[in-house]
Amino acid sequence: MAKLWGGRFSADTNKLVSEFTASHQIDSRLYQEDILLNLAYSRALLSAGILKQDEFAKIEKGLQEVKKDIEAGEVSYSDDMEDVHTHIEHWLTLKIGEPAKKIHTGKSRNDQVVTDLRMYLLKVLPETVTLLAEINQIIIKNLCQTDIVLPGYTHLQKAQPVTLALHYGAYVQMFQRDIARLKDALKRIDVMSLGAGALAGNPFLNEQIRQKLAKELGFSAVAENSMDAVSDRDFVVETLAALSLIMVHLSRMGEELVLWSSEEFGYVQIGDAFTTGSSIMPQKKNPDVAELIRGKAGRVFGALQAVLVTMKGLPLSYNRDMQEDKEMLFLGLDTVLGSLQVLKQMLPEIKFNYEKMRNSTGGFIMATRLAEYLVKKGVAFREAHVIVGKIVAYCLEQGKRDLKELSVSEYQKFSAEFKDDVLSVVNI
Ligand code: ARG
Repeated sequence: MAKLWGGRFSADTNKLVSEFTASHQIDSRLYQEDILLNLAYSRALLSAGILKQDEFAKIEKGLQEVKKDIEAGEVSYSDDMEDVHTHIEHWLTLKIGEPAKKIHTGKSRNDQVVTDLRMYLLKVLPETVTLLAEINQIIIKNLCQTDIVLPGYTHLQKAQPVTLALHYGAYVQMFQRDIARLKDALKRIDVMSLGAGALAGNPFLNEQIRQKLAKELGFSAVAENSMDAVSDRDFVVETLAALSLIMVHLSRMGEELVLWSSEEFGYVQIGDAFTTGSSIMPQKKNPDVAELIRGKAGRVFGALQAVLVTMKGLPLSYNRDMQEDKEMLFLGLDTVLGSLQVLKQMLPEIKFNYEKMRNSTGGFIMATRLAEYLVKKGVAFREAHVIVGKIVAYCLEQGKRDLKELSVSEYQKFSAEFKDDVLSVVNI
């Protein structure tokens, strides 16, 4: 096929260059958005008097057929035609001829590609929000139990006893913030770039037509500056940043599940359907899903970094470097979506060993409460801290491994403020 820009060129593009510059392998997933965009834009050109009614009718029918062909797998992509936008225009031209040559009037792939991408995010990000909300519901229903006690840790050392509800409630908070961040990013995604042309605007669409076009494409606002509209990839960075934080949270949960499913902890048992065996050690049951959720976080952070580095230092306005944004964005989206989907199914398949959790709350885990007991009796906290520290040292010396093993009179050797009720304080 002749290039979209063949006019001034006399030599064919080098084959390696075609391969090197093509992006259809990545951006073909925007085909639905691109067809919707071309249809709505053609309607705008009809309102602007550029297309006649019969031409528009042919374009509309032609685009529907192109969509069907794509979905039936009856098309093949070629590096010669770079990207999904060029292919769709080409396939439409093959189907309807002359009218197809008018659909690119006033638009550029520069404003088109970014509009497609925004439309795609408006479609898929709400799925991520929904999944996060569903996972929160599962956590609240299955894991937020206020009557289950386990050790809470700092520095991975037993710190103070907590309930399972307090522990998993922390993840609910994280995912709520993730939802809020995605919704906030969606506000800035929800701006139509189309109408910016290559960079300097579109002389065919008046403001009224552009507003109507935005509405038809599902946007609440229209970009105010055409150079910014084709240069801006903040929304890609913001999305990847929000996705990165989701992966931070999922990764921390994954790490805990790995740790807790070890024999040493034994707090959880992950269902067989969500674990794998070892090719050599018959006894093994590995928490691979939790490990991979943890492991895949790296790609998403890498994608965020890649887009930041690609964008820094680019002069206004569009530069071909920006074509790299989509592969990274899709990598981030797919990784998060995949991780959330598998986590949602795995969570109900995790069995908690409540007894093991509770039995792990022995030892000196009530030491802080014991110091607070003294404070309530009028001892200064720093002093109480020293007293309880000495009690712990005494226990270790005496081979006592739990504050419950001391008698009231032993406590009273360290402070006269200890009374009979001290035993109920050290008993969790
Ligand atoms: N395929 C390009 C991208 O994804 C869009 C078109 C580039 N525009 C151009 N004038 N070469 O960013």
